[in-house]
Amino acid sequence: MIVTLTMNPALDKSTRTLTVTPEDKLRCETLQVEPGGGGVNVSRAIHNLGGESLMLYTAGGMSGQEFEMLLQAQGLPNQRIPIAGNTRESFTVFEESSRHQYRFNMPGPTLAEAEWRQVLELLAALPQPDYLVASGSLPPGVPDDFYALVAGQMAGTKTRVVIDTSGRALRTLVQHPAPVYLIKPNLAELAELAGEDLNDDEEIVNAAQRIVDESGIQQIVVSLGAGGVIVVDDQRAARQRTPTVPIRSKIGAGDSTVAGIVLGLARGLPGAEAIRFGVAAGAAAVMTPGSELCRRADAERLFDLMQRNHVLEYL
Ligand SMILES: Nc1ncnc2c1ncn2[C@@H]1O[C@H](COP(=O)(O)OP(=O)(O)OP(=O)(O)O)[C@@H](O)[C@H]1O
Ligand SMILES: [Mg+2]
Repeated sequence: MIVTLTMNPALDKSTRTLTVTPEDKLRCETLQVEPGGGGVNVSRAIHNLGGESLMLYTAGGMSGQEFEMLLQAQGLPNQRIPIAGNTRESFTVFEESSRHQYRFNMPGPTLAEAEWRQVLELLAALPQPDYLVASGSLPPGVPDDFYALVAGQMAGTKTRVVIDTSGRALRTLVQHPAPVYLIKPNLAELAELAGEDLNDDEEIVNAAQRIVDESGIQQIVVSLGAGGVIVVDDQRAARQRTPTVPIRSKIGAGDSTVAGIVLGLARGLPGAEAIRFGVAAGAAAVMTPGSELCRRADAERLFDLMQRNHVLEYL
């Protein structure tokens, strides 16, 4: 059983136009509206891959209501933690002439202490999942150590906590002794954590190993875009390369990677194979246009291909 947590979801609105120019009225295609945000995307990718998860998310206002309705309509198991503020919206315009994507992101609503504490209470009251995936940014009002509080609360239960975030939320997590099963920073996020540029595999492995030694984090999966991932725990470091795929849109690659790893583990795959399934799902997400996440057929085909041509290399 997998539960995902999204503290700062967004109603993702997107459209297309020929060219973005100032002053003119731009003729745009019909607006597409999708529920998004870290954990919600992970749950949707798990669903695409043929798995199941429950998504928990905070939502409020008219946009929050629309968000919940869209999840219901898509048949995705979800539980909303109501908040007073309005769920944020994000806006993406695809410029057809240049094939550029313009992405506008708004801050989330400010949460009151009683609201974010309610999330912790709900987590304590739910049946314990095998995996809890907390992903994305923290909205204003939520303390930087929120993910550490979540991990601390799960300590001593069977739940393995997986966290994918950045900035202060990630730094605070690393400074905290709370047990976390896995984090998935990309290279820039790991470099920010390490406080230095990371120029080669050795520097990446050393930085990740230091974090594993000094924090409650058991395993770090560093995602490197077309370079696949480097996995580090207290025993070993290894690299999983990704096959070359046609690139349509990189949006959703990170979330699909996390989805593949966690679904693989939840299905009982050995660690190395779950990592391979995650990298296959990430590469599959790159093959789909716009904000579309991974497709199952692509992920499974790449997973099989990798079994033959891209074995895990110990570093
Ligand atoms: N060009 C690519 N070709 C093949 N696989 C890719 C490519 N880009 C990304 N991937 C796969 O997706 C994974 C995640 O990508 P990336 O490192 O860009 O994550 P991220 O920066 O967290 O992304 P996001 O913006 O979605 O948060 C990579 O580790 C890799 O497996
Ligand atoms: Mg990411």
